[in-house]
Amino acid sequence: MDQQLYLLQTPGMSEEARPERVRPGTDSPADTLNRETVPAGRSLYRPVSIGNLRLAGNVFLAPVAGYSDRAFRSLCIDCGADFTYTEMVSSEALTRNSGKTESLMLRAPNEERYAVQIFGGDPERMGEAAFIALAQTGAECLDINAGCPVPKIVKTGAGSALTRDPDRLALVTRSVIRGARRFSEETGAVPAAVTVKIRSGWDASDLSWERAARAALDEGAQAITLHPRTRAQGYEGKSDWSVLAALSALARRDYPGIPVFGSGDLFAPEDAERMLAETGCDGVMFARGAMGNPFIFTQTRELLTAGAYADIPAETRVRAGWKELLDLVSDSGEQAACREMRKRFCAYTKGIEGGAALRAEIVLAETADDYRKIFETRGFSLIAR
Ligand SMILES: Cc1cc2nc3c(=O)[nH]c(=O)nc-3n(C[C@H](O)[C@H](O)[C@H](O)COP(=O)(O)O)c2cc1C
Repeated sequence: MDQQLYLLQTPGMSEEARPERVRPGTDSPADTLNRETVPAGRSLYRPVSIGNLRLAGNVFLAPVAGYSDRAFRSLCIDCGADFTYTEMVSSEALTRNSGKTESLMLRAPNEERYAVQIFGGDPERMGEAAFIALAQTGAECLDINAGCPVPKIVKTGAGSALTRDPDRLALVTRSVIRGARRFSEETGAVPAAVTVKIRSGWDASDLSWERAARAALDEGAQAITLHPRTRAQGYEGKSDWSVLAALSALARRDYPGIPVFGSGDLFAPEDAERMLAETGCDGVMFARGAMGNPFIFTQTRELLTAGAYADIPAETRVRAGWKELLDLVSDSGEQAACREMRKRFCAYTKGIEGGAALRAEIVLAETADDYRKIFETRGFSLIAR
């Protein structure tokens, strides 16, 4: 996937756009939560099953092209993410055996289970890609992208064109399930779960989410994620959580045991709490809210289990970024990793005392040693005690 294409369509990613973090207290949205929507005795933070796959919790990292690489996913797991998705991987590239594609799908050492997301509009090729992706990764889950809004992608019948065309989505789902089953039969591996991520529709006049969801679930998809914006909205405007509530109710009624995951406007731990409580969905996926702030997983789990969360100490933030840098160096080479980590480190050090001067040096760092010196001269210990 050409990440620039995705990023071009991505407003709302700036630091300024990210809401202030709010802690439960006098003015927290959590205090205004309508707790009557939470079924009695049912914790918002809870295990979830996708087919045979058992996850200890329901707070996930969403697929994010150009961001959810293996180093970042690994950091998110360290921070408490219960499940992670690779960025979308092209079925064309997979079936043409592109080496670059394989590196997008690599499992992180601490990624005990994860999902590889694939995209494409041709059912047969998607089935073949499913087999290849599993052969290359042994992933526990394959997720079908039916939400990408990028013109170059939808033109091929892929991404959100699949939400618009439930018949094709059904064929794609069937074929991916067949590919996964064939892999399991040939290798004896436990069958991978197959899941689908959709949008609410093409535009306001064509809200096909229900037909798309039914098409995928009738074919045997084992979980469904909804990003309740239309393709026309891209990433602008508000996501419509009432659609997520409707899908959750529909699944509970007509597809018992099939979990529904929500994505859209999760920028703070309180947003995740509110989405779980207000929509009845089974799990939440942080996307833009985790970019530059993987600590959102730690804090969300604290909020959901203890009702409040603590700030993340500066040293913890810096060490997390340092580990990510080293992982990225081994995956992408030192030069590319050091450049990429400039923006990530700048985000991680937001709010740190002397942060502006620190960031002025970070944006010039060319080597891992440059980073090490920047932090060690300020007294940060980069090796975990
Ligand atoms: C830069 C960027 C890249 C994305 N890449 C993918 C992708 O590869 N696959 C996918 O299903 N969704 C992708 N998404 C959508 C997110 O997973 C998520 O559904 C969406 O951003 C809504 O969540 P948010 O409002 O909390 O960011 C991407 C979003 C952004 C901003």
